[in-house]
Order: sequence, then C-alpha cells, then structure tokens
Amino acid sequence: MGMQVVNHGMEGDVSRNMIEVCKKFFELPYEERSKYMTSDMSAPVRYGTSFNQNKDNVFCWRDFLKLYAHPLPDYLPYWPSSPSDFRSLAATYATETREMFEMMVKAIMESLEIDGDDNEAAKELKEGSQMVVVNCYPPCPEPELTLGMPPHSDYGFLTLLLQDDVEGLQILYRDEWVTIDPIPGSFVINVGDHLEIFSNGRYKSVLHRVLVNSTKPRISVASLHSFPLTSVVKPSPKLIDEHNQPQYMDTDFATFLQYISTREPKWKNFLESRKIHHL
Ligand code: OGA
Ligand code: NI
Repeated sequence: MGMQVVNHGMEGDVSRNMIEVCKKFFELPYEERSKYMTSDMSAPVRYGTSFNQNKDNVFCWRDFLKLYAHPLPDYLPYWPSSPSDFRSLAATYATETREMFEMMVKAIMESLEIDGDDNEAAKELKEGSQMVVVNCYPPCPEPELTLGMPPHSDYGFLTLLLQDDVEGLQILYRDEWVTIDPIPGSFVINVGDHLEIFSNGRYKSVLHRVLVNSTKPRISVASLHSFPLTSVVKPSPKLIDEHNQPQYMDTDFATFLQYISTREPKWKNFLESRKIHHL
C-alpha cells in the first residue's frame, strides 16, 4: 500500500533545495564522495555505489548516500561538509519530513482504532529512527539490461519519498509494475515492513523497484522512519485477541542485520521469513 501526497505542508523550496544540493554532492570528485564509503551499517554516513556493497550479485545502477538523522544533533556533525550548504539544507529537510511522518502516524493509529493515550507504539515512534537515503541513478547506456534498484519493500514503518522530475519509480499493483508520475513537490508514501508487522497485516508493505534510462540522471530522497533501532517490532497487542492471532514473529534490528549478512534484501523475503504460519 502506498499513496502520493501533495498538500503536505512542506514549502516547495525545502524539497527543491534538497534535490539540488544532493545533485551537487554526487557531482563532487570521487575522492570527496568516497570518504564516506564504509560497509559499517551503523556508520552515521554511508556512501556507496550499489544496493548491498558486500553481497551484490545483481549490479545496480545507483549511487547512494545514507544519513542517520535522529537525534539530529548527534549525527549532523558527521554529515558531509561539502557542498557547503549541504548540512543546513539537509537538516531542514530531515526535520520537516519528520513532522510529516508524525502527522501520518496519527492518521494511521486512528485508522487502526488504537489512538488512545496508552499507545506505547506511538510514543516509541515519536523518538524513532530516521534515515535519509539519497539515491542517484546516472544515465545508463543499456537501461533494459539493469535496474536502479531491484524489487524490494522498505525496512521500516513508513518511507517518505521525494523524486526529482525524472520518472523511474515503479510500484507493483495488482501484479503489474506501475510507474509513479513524478509530480513536483509531491511525496510518495510507502508502507514498510514494520507497519505491516505492527498492524498485523492490515497494512501491507509496498513492493517497488527503480528503472533507469539512457539520457537523464535521476535523484530521489527517501526518508525512512520507524521505531528506535533497539525496539522489538511486533503486532500491536491492541489488535490481538482470541479471534486475531499474531501473524508475525517479534522482530528486532539484530535479526534483520543477521538476515542481510548472508543475502540481499529483495522482494518481501525478509518479511516472509518473519511470518507465522498458523495451522
Ligand atoms: C529506496 C527506494 C526509490 C527511488 O530508497 O528504498 O525504493 O525512486 N527508492 O529511488
Ligand atoms: Ni525502497
């Protein structure tokens, strides 16, 4: 499940500036960008050139910059200092997407009818993790032979995705890949695996992929939001009763890291591995 939102409250400048400054980052000399290259998943900043640096059997046509973003003051000093306005523009962007996320959590809790004061999950999400993933897909001479990103669902609760004006993102809808129109200033909101688990399957995480093209580079910025990395993600106890058994196992970040240490995250394999099969 996903949706595209337009009247979200973020000023057009904030998203435009973010795209522009990210474009400039990817235009920096390789020596500058590669300072941030690491296979350490817990590094505050991580630059790379494929989906999974260690276990990459499908070559992906993509550069990325991943920034841990919450609590912001802890991470900001590690973010790239070049281009010179990168930190300030990206910090504004991260703060505003976080506000948007909080609004959406409220709406989702209401839709699940679990929006009372005793909603521990809502409190945890307020202090939850945030990672800003900037993707850059350079033009590809033979676009039909590769993908920018293979089919996957996002690890997290919700992803707020900003695209520039070049299409490429596709979502699997009724067994067909549908291209999502890059409406300027809009956000694509994707349900992630953690919301599927938390809602005990009422929300489904979205399968999506990215195509590349032979003429134009493409930039996207995904803000991934979820519970704190130390939390155990599980179906909301408020949705479980004698008629509704939990459909997913309790899942923590260590389990996920263990899972991807031996394979690539693709399709909804990780989530599938957490499903409980009742007889
Ligand atoms: C992602 C992602 C889509 C895009 O970063 O997880 O799916 O359009 N990005 O770049
Ligand atoms: Ni994704």
